[in-house]
Amino acid sequence: MQQGTTRDGFSSKFGVLVAAAGSAVGLGNLWRFPYMVGENGGSAFIIIYILLMVVLCMPVMVAEFMVGRRAKRDVMGAFDVLAPRTPWKGIGVLGLTAALVILGFYCVVGGWTLAYMSNSVVPSFLSQTETYANSFQNLIAAPVQPLLWCFLFILLTALVVIGGVKNGIERYSKILMPVLFVMVMVLAVRALTLDTEMKGLKFLFQPDFSKVNGNTFLAALGQAFFSMSIGMGAMITYGSYIPKNSNLVKTSYGVMSTDLLFSLLAGLAVIPAVFAFGISPSEGPGLVFVTFPEIFSKLPLGNILSLIFFVLLGIAALTSSISLFEVLVAYLVDARRLSRRKAVGLVTCIVCVLGTLASLSMGTLKHLTIFGKNFFDCCDSLSANILLPLGGLFICLFVGWYMKPADVRDELTNGGTIRVPLFNAILFILRYATPIAILMIFASGMGWI
Ligand code: TRP
Repeated sequence: MQQGTTRDGFSSKFGVLVAAAGSAVGLGNLWRFPYMVGENGGSAFIIIYILLMVVLCMPVMVAEFMVGRRAKRDVMGAFDVLAPRTPWKGIGVLGLTAALVILGFYCVVGGWTLAYMSNSVVPSFLSQTETYANSFQNLIAAPVQPLLWCFLFILLTALVVIGGVKNGIERYSKILMPVLFVMVMVLAVRALTLDTEMKGLKFLFQPDFSKVNGNTFLAALGQAFFSMSIGMGAMITYGSYIPKNSNLVKTSYGVMSTDLLFSLLAGLAVIPAVFAFGISPSEGPGLVFVTFPEIFSKLPLGNILSLIFFVLLGIAALTSSISLFEVLVAYLVDARRLSRRKAVGLVTCIVCVLGTLASLSMGTLKHLTIFGKNFFDCCDSLSANILLPLGGLFICLFVGWYMKPADVRDELTNGGTIRVPLFNAILFILRYATPIAILMIFASGMGWI
């Protein structure tokens, strides 16, 4: 991002919250969270997830905003400014890699969303003879169709990033996010009334800790990082646009609560329906694409509701993919001196290649596996389970141990003008709690302890 042109940043504190929440709320909440809950045994996973998010991850978001606002630069540049000629710049490299890896599969799922959006217009969409699971499988395994949708999603992201984020997406997010919220609420209520035997509610609220192991923690940690958009510098980039009078801790709380609310509501909409329709909760990445059409088919005006829902989901996905794209574009413009257009062009080409591989790995290239996983799953778990926690670990160490506590305090209290009651707790968490927890969770997830 060029100094002076877009660096002036968000106009209001509310604008900051909406943009950061727009990045956080996305497919991670509505698509990834429900299937993670399903695969990892329900309520025990949710409790661990909430605890990790509130205690360990919220301070990481504060740290990212703080680094960004202090340096007023992109991921790479930030560490150049705050720690010149040190290896801390490696965090930037890690962040750029994570952005690419995430985009690789994110745009494929974004494409599926667009495909469902257009399918909703077909009157027979909800009354087909095939099961929804079959039609989803047929869609994603096809060689050409999902690729085209994926490219369209990348193109839309690129157009917004070229055209400027603030006046477009940010303005619409303020209206569309609340509408999406209401929509998911309606789905949750319908799903709950379908779940007459309360199996879904039991799955969601009766914790069974007997199945919890290191992998559950790793999955919950990865999901928390992914869902909050932390661990790879997206929030550093956004932090660099935050006005000096914003309260960074309050903003982080706001983003985290919004994000959590969306995830829980999505769980409440998907899981009871899963049981009501006899779908397996560990169905995997297709879970929402199979269950939501089932709910829509049981609602009046199902097609229209389905259309609205997938449009909103597409927009939520777009506000998130933009923040990932922006991290790469900002770097190319800042450090590589590319024009914004060229930077967007280059990123678009690279992401199209990765998206093609990820999309084809659901069908044609299914047999091409890395560590027993296809390319799509590989990108997914590499980013959430390795790159993001690793990036988060280094960001904690940087803020907790490299930066002077006086500087951290100065930035968080806006030069001593506001009180930050939890300052010491936040610093403690960044210094000890989060790094140790990440290392332990890593070690046990990998089966080392
Ligand atoms: N948080 C987004 C979601 O839940 C995805 C996302 C956007 C993201 N930017 C990110 C994930 C940066 C990790 C890092 O869908």
